[in-house]
Amino acid sequence: MKLFVDTGNLKDIQALAEIGILDGVTTNPSLLAKEPGDYKQNLKQICQIVQGPVSAEVVATDSAGMIREGRELAAIDDHIVVKVPFTVEGVKACKTLAGEGKHVNVTLIFSATQAWLAAKAGASYVSPFVGRLDDIGTTGMNLVREIVDIFDNFDYATEVLVASVRNPIHIVEAARMGADVVTVPSAVIQQSFKHPLTDLGLKKFLEDWEKAQATRV
Ligand code: E4P
Repeated sequence: MKLFVDTGNLKDIQALAEIGILDGVTTNPSLLAKEPGDYKQNLKQICQIVQGPVSAEVVATDSAGMIREGRELAAIDDHIVVKVPFTVEGVKACKTLAGEGKHVNVTLIFSATQAWLAAKAGASYVSPFVGRLDDIGTTGMNLVREIVDIFDNFDYATEVLVASVRNPIHIVEAARMGADVVTVPSAVIQQSFKHPLTDLGLKKFLEDWEKAQATRV
């Protein structure tokens, strides 16, 4: 399962890329709006750092506008994946952009039929939002299971990108279900590195080693 970070923050992306575990990045208008500077230059820099797929979202709501913005975004760098919202207009734009050979991520997926329609339009990725479903009392991961099953049945090339991830349990469940990608906020990735027993175990190993060294002549 590929790991993407869900952020527009250059420092966070750089730090994770340096660890060597990062496969890509997803952004959205809310995330990019938080970052200073020109968003196109920021996207270019993100692509240079991660050297993998970087989702950049259109803000137009009509298909002609989405296609125009999608072409502009794709021209920033070969690693850009054009993100379009799941609407009738978004699906139309996906079909056109995918037909031109651009990678498209159809976002704001909240049902399996939406995912299936996006796959039919040639999406490279669909993004089911698990955390936002959990927020309204529906188990978000059930949607991921449905989409993975449907795509497996018909061998769709569209990748299932689990989004709106809120905790490490979402990551584990996504991996167990066979999702292709999980996009995770930087804080949740950091949290996934930590376990108190690892810290305690390391402390004890080092103490024992030091003690043994001190008693040797
Ligand atoms: C996905 O690409 C979105 O950017 C993101 O995962 C949304 O997450 P949120 O529900 O935490 O805002």
